[in-house]
Amino acid sequence: MTEPEAPHRICVELPAPGPDGPVEAVALITLDRPEVLNALDSETMRQLVEALERLDADDACRCIVITGAGERAFAAGADIREMAEATPVSLTRVNTFARWEHIRRVRKPIVAAVRGYALGGGCELAMACDLVVAADDAVFGQPEIKLGVIPGAGGTQRLTRALGKAKAMELILTGRNLPAKEAEARGLVTKLVAREATLPAALELAAQVAAMPALAVMAAKEAVNRAFELSLEAGLEFERRNFLLLFGSEDQKEGMRAFVEKRAPGWKGR
Ligand code: CAA
Repeated sequence: MTEPEAPHRICVELPAPGPDGPVEAVALITLDRPEVLNALDSETMRQLVEALERLDADDACRCIVITGAGERAFAAGADIREMAEATPVSLTRVNTFARWEHIRRVRKPIVAAVRGYALGGGCELAMACDLVVAADDAVFGQPEIKLGVIPGAGGTQRLTRALGKAKAMELILTGRNLPAKEAEARGLVTKLVAREATLPAALELAAQVAAMPALAVMAAKEAVNRAFELSLEAGLEFERRNFLLLFGSEDQKEGMRAFVEKRAPGWKGR
């Protein structure tokens, strides 16, 4: 008996040159449940992680953009309908958190292109990305307290690291939404743009990253992320080791020779 086909939850556009689609070496993942503001049910998370892992292993892809379908949301959080009757046992069996752990371990940079709501798990997904391009009408927030729970996919940790305790505490304890302008002023957002410019700006930023030498990009991403996890001493040691390691790459020789020879470098990703 053949397995029933999984319902379509995301759309993946592989790296391909073209004016309307993703640019060279940039892949685009669109969360595609606009009728429920791209709520992240377990099938969406499964498909998202599967796509991210595939792209992470694909040499043709050097940066990934995640966005939400429709006009209203990046993602309005975990799927409340699916979660409403969950028990600790059912949640443990689905093991949602392992999926978030997979996202954290993606080595290639991920850019979130956020229009409209990025709430709960949607805000946590944006914060799990490395760069956030937000529309001026974007709204971030962790409203889980209003549902009788707390953020479960990193919100209490990442929002606090991003905004500091005083502001994160206010947002998480009251469930207040954080408008894009305030999110940018407080360091949660890389770049604030007009609504219609969000995806093009995210693709452009991703293209700039994708044009950099891939090994150095992955090492830099990992090192910056370690700044949130390690003591300063351990973080500096991690940075130094990666710096030294990159001197074993062809791209380091190429990058520095190209500078000396006053020409553009040709990266090999080795
Ligand atoms: N889960 C399931 N469905 C959702 C949803 C969610 N998180 N967010 C929105 N929807 C659905 C609505 O039920 C509605 O569906 P119907 O048309 O079938 O009724 C549709 O999307 C449109 O939403 P609204 O009618 O509510 O739109 P609105 O403009 O009145 O309000 C909103 C927009 C303020 C974002 C509101 O939808 C809302 O509050 N959504 C929930 C936000 C939230 O609490 N997110 C946190 C979820 S818990 C979590 O994420 C846990 C975690 O840490 C991982």
